[in-house]
Amino acid sequence: MNQVGNLLLLPGDGIGPEVMGEVRKVVGWLGDRQGLKFECEEDLAGGCALDAHGVPMTEDTVKLAKDADAVVFGAVGVAKHDANPFHLKPEQGLLRLRKELDLFANLRPAMVFPALAEASTLKTELVEGLDILILRELTGGVYFGEPRGIETLADGTERGVDTQVYTTPEIERLASVGFELARKRRNHVTSVEKANVMHTGVLWRRTVTALHKKGYEDVELAHMYADNCAMQLIRRPKQFDVIVTDNLFGDLLSDAAAMLTGSLGMLPSASLGAPDAIGKRKALYEPVHGSAPDIAGEGKANPLAMLLSFAMMLRYSFDLGAEADRLEKAIATVLDKGIRTADIMQDGKTLVSTEAMGKAVVAELDRSLS
Ligand code: IPM
Ligand code: MG
Repeated sequence: MNQVGNLLLLPGDGIGPEVMGEVRKVVGWLGDRQGLKFECEEDLAGGCALDAHGVPMTEDTVKLAKDADAVVFGAVGVAKHDANPFHLKPEQGLLRLRKELDLFANLRPAMVFPALAEASTLKTELVEGLDILILRELTGGVYFGEPRGIETLADGTERGVDTQVYTTPEIERLASVGFELARKRRNHVTSVEKANVMHTGVLWRRTVTALHKKGYEDVELAHMYADNCAMQLIRRPKQFDVIVTDNLFGDLLSDAAAMLTGSLGMLPSASLGAPDAIGKRKALYEPVHGSAPDIAGEGKANPLAMLLSFAMMLRYSFDLGAEADRLEKAIATVLDKGIRTADIMQDGKTLVSTEAMGKAVVAELDRSLS
């Protein structure tokens, strides 16, 4: 048995535990059938951590995450904590982890599986064969900029402040990841900001342009305003290869891109830190969908975004590209066979539960060995 690495599983809230259950099946399969053993620890994050410990992420959990080879994250968010002060919202658990592990590069690939082209809300010909990658900055910008807060003014009204802030090194380190990734794809980067109205946008465009000149001139570079990008994603999504953008724009654009693929339940993500002395990056893998409290506990959740995130982990954290391909192919085959969770259900297909979907994927993994 080959000991591959240590994982920290953080299922979180809502449908998080359900989709994580299907990850466990694949972990079990890799150990039993491929001799690839992952040591898994599990802990609380988000609303369930608030309930148990009074904070959305404990020091101990942060430490476990720092010590793990990779963190596999479900989802956070529960309505009953919505009114909490900011630092006690479930989402803060995730934001803290991103910041403390310095996971600045968030890869959100949006790929349309052939079987799902018709499930998109856009015309099939617009999305068929779509394969784009949104690279979102994840530890800066308006999510973390200071000052931030709500203050009461002398006249009793209130004033809310968030600060959008970026430095040259923050933009450079993200953009260089974008250029490197583009080289392994179709060699095209679209850098997205609002240089027409924001100073951070002006600096972003200038910095990306300079970096491009310095070492990436072989990659094609285009600049686009974020509002136009939102429109172009819906108008002609296949024009894009790699989109490099800031934290907030990346949050919005990746939800839009997700719908091109048929469902938010299909979009995986990887959040990576800088390589250390031996080239290893801190990493967290999570589906782009949230905790979906409306369907939590009903076995309706689509586990595929979670499983595709796990495939990204195999590829990026453990260099197990062949196993990642195998898992992605198993998922494609399951979809080809017409097996569907509710979010991607179409006429004439077979509606299954979260667990049955995971089981079908594992059955395909088995078949891939025979
Ligand atoms: C995402 C989510 C998070 C974000 C929330 C849960 C804090 O929407 O990962 O896209 O805004 O970054
Ligand atoms: Mg989001």
